[in-house]
Amino acid sequence: MNLIQDLDVLDNLDAPKLVPESIGTNGRKLYLETYGCQMNVADSEVVAAVLQEGGYGLTSDPMQADVVLLNTCAIRENAEQKVRQRLGVFRAKKRKENPDLLIGVLGCMAERLRHKLLEEEKLVDLVVGPDAYRDLPRLIGERGLNGQAAVNVQLSKEETYADIAPVRYDSNGISAFVSIMRGCNNMCSFCVVPFTRGRERSRPVNSILAECADLLERGYKEVTVLGQNVNSYHFEQDGTVVSFAELLYRISLLSPELRIRYSTSHPKDCSDDLLYVHAERHNICNYIHLPVQHGNTEMLRRMRRTYSREQYLELVEKAYRIVPNLSLSTDIIAGFCGETEEEHRDTLSLLKQVRYDHAYMFMYSERPGTYAARKYQDDIPEDLKKRRLSEIIDLQTRIAADKNRADVGSLQTILVEGTSKRRIDQLFGRTDANKVVIFDAHNYQPGQYVQVRITGSTSATLLGEPLGVTTLAESVLQVA
Ligand code: SAH
Ligand code: SF4
Ligand code: F3S
Repeated sequence: MNLIQDLDVLDNLDAPKLVPESIGTNGRKLYLETYGCQMNVADSEVVAAVLQEGGYGLTSDPMQADVVLLNTCAIRENAEQKVRQRLGVFRAKKRKENPDLLIGVLGCMAERLRHKLLEEEKLVDLVVGPDAYRDLPRLIGERGLNGQAAVNVQLSKEETYADIAPVRYDSNGISAFVSIMRGCNNMCSFCVVPFTRGRERSRPVNSILAECADLLERGYKEVTVLGQNVNSYHFEQDGTVVSFAELLYRISLLSPELRIRYSTSHPKDCSDDLLYVHAERHNICNYIHLPVQHGNTEMLRRMRRTYSREQYLELVEKAYRIVPNLSLSTDIIAGFCGETEEEHRDTLSLLKQVRYDHAYMFMYSERPGTYAARKYQDDIPEDLKKRRLSEIIDLQTRIAADKNRADVGSLQTILVEGTSKRRIDQLFGRTDANKVVIFDAHNYQPGQYVQVRITGSTSATLLGEPLGVTTLAESVLQVA
């Protein structure tokens, strides 16, 4: 799953906000801050919906807020540290300026740290886990009444928030996340997500289709379908099981002009059907985030990823064969328990072999309670982890720069998302392969599909020259 921090590339780009401020019926205002992955962004939109229904308005200024909620991430130690620092800032504001301010922790840190946050650190008024957001209005009320911290970190086997229409408060009105499942059953040995988000469950097909149709009606052009492992989506309806490939196919039929992406796809169950759906449907982007994590089979075994290097490479080869112009991205962990120099070099050689367009690369961070924390020693010293990570990043940056350079001269269809912050006379959008393209605005508008010729590149972005407005259906014929 791509992390929000990884969207740093967009730092210099701006997108219009639809709902900067709103006034609720109870006159109180909510400020929400989101950390972690796209799933958390989608969850914050559910939280906004629940609290709007509960009478709260929204503000983008924490100084104006009566309730501050941080939707947190526990994936690595530094993600948690960042949230702790932020809590310190809000705590000081509460002490000095606004004793009535309520501060809450939502999301993936809630379950694990509730005792610490409430007792040792005495930082928060509310602790609410990812499956308890419907309970938020009640919990806030309870906290107000009795002065005790309010807690609900119960995980659920059923909750998918299927019936809640997310409030897209920080949206560009063009591209939206649609959550199709929650939790994870995979138990990769390094990963805390199964503990923070509980068992996997799939959201009903019809509610997903209805949400996508509603987005279309409101002018959205792109959906990114989300789950920790979308490939294991399955939902039984009228006696038949709908797989992820089938679900995507049905979403793609809603409109030929709706562009579809998804994340994250676990290599262990990326089906042939899915690859054929990519090949057949022009509006499903030919881009797959297919995290490998490591390039060595023994390390993959210890990571409990359930595939070998060879199986992964076979899958990549098959995917490149079935899906024309396919782009791949990945996640990599450097310095996992017991990693030898030779095993590390296998990750480098795998990067060279696959030639991903993009990679999210991390140093291993031990997470309490995981299989790795219980069974293996986190024995790679920090400076060695750092060195290995920087070798991985250097290599991948070169590969991405080469691949971007190879795009120069090509025609691409981009969905325009907004104005460049650095230059208001420039717009930006993404290619089918999820690459950011910056180009002169002329009279083009956000929300349009524009055909561009790529004229320049860096390792992170492309520059383009716009050739004209197009449609997604048309562009399949035009872009060779
Ligand atoms: N469900 C997604 C991953 C979600 S977490 C998937 O299976 O692909 C996003 C990424 O964070 C993971 O792919 C992994 O590369 C990284 N990650 C997870 N746990 C980590 C840890 N303990 N230390 C470092 N990186 C980790
Ligand atoms: Fe974590 Fe593995 Fe589940 Fe991804 S598939 S969320 S890495 S346990
Ligand atoms: Fe996402 Fe972080 Fe939770 S990556 S699932 S918010 S631990």
